[in-house]
Amino acid sequence: MKILGINASPRSSNSQTLKLVKAVLNGARSKGAGTELVDICKLNIEFCNACGICYKKGKCVKKDEFQALYKKVMTADGLVMGSPNYFRSVTAQMKTMIDRMADTIHCQLLTGKYTVNVATSGGTGQYKQVTEYLNEIMLNFGSFVTGSIGVSVRQGPKAFENAERRAFRLGEDLTEDISAKRNYTKQRRIMKENTTYFQNLVKMHKDDWPHEYKYWNRIGGS
Ligand SMILES: Cc1cc2nc3c(=O)[nH]c(=O)nc-3n(C[C@H](O)[C@H](O)[C@H](O)COP(=O)(O)O)c2cc1C
Repeated sequence: MKILGINASPRSSNSQTLKLVKAVLNGARSKGAGTELVDICKLNIEFCNACGICYKKGKCVKKDEFQALYKKVMTADGLVMGSPNYFRSVTAQMKTMIDRMADTIHCQLLTGKYTVNVATSGGTGQYKQVTEYLNEIMLNFGSFVTGSIGVSVRQGPKAFENAERRAFRLGEDLTEDISAKRNYTKQRRIMKENTTYFQNLVKMHKDDWPHEYKYWNRIGGS
């Protein structure tokens, strides 16, 4: 079992978000998972320019470090997505990665995976703006969300230690969910709705998006 942690704070080893991502990965390792951590701020990932070629061909044409990162994402059983709150959302680095995954949402390509989302913020409670955003996005990519964890750095070291402990337990839960192929009934219902929505969308654009149309046909969709 492989779990990939992604941190999107540009503060490298000073990042508080990184500490929480690491705590989740430690929890996952304690239950036997293999883990890898990527600092996406060190990668050269260009903006999506909406050329639509990924819809047509199933592959982005840009030759940058997204390709290798995406391979890691797609071969992982579980993901840990970490970002600080930057003006009510994820950092630009995380958003850039997400934007490059347009084909992923159309084809629900994270189906079968499980995710834990992690955030920190300066303002009390504002980490929730990020965890809620990531929960929604990862579910919309097709991944189950095992849970999320966040903390405001303003709450002090005790609150942070408590968050680290909860993050560790979420890492354990993530590993157990993957082993048990846990079904989250409410999330499954949303996934089914998304699948129907995207299958219909792709069908409407079948001449422009041949790869995606073939994909859904192959797996018994449109
Ligand atoms: C450009 C920028 C924007 C920020 N915007 C917010 C914000 O809207 N709300 C908030 O609570 N904290 C905000 N913060 C504070 C960070 O979320 C907080 O310091 C976080 O813990 C940093 O995480 P890191 O140590 O992993 O980099 C912002 C910080 C920066 C640098």
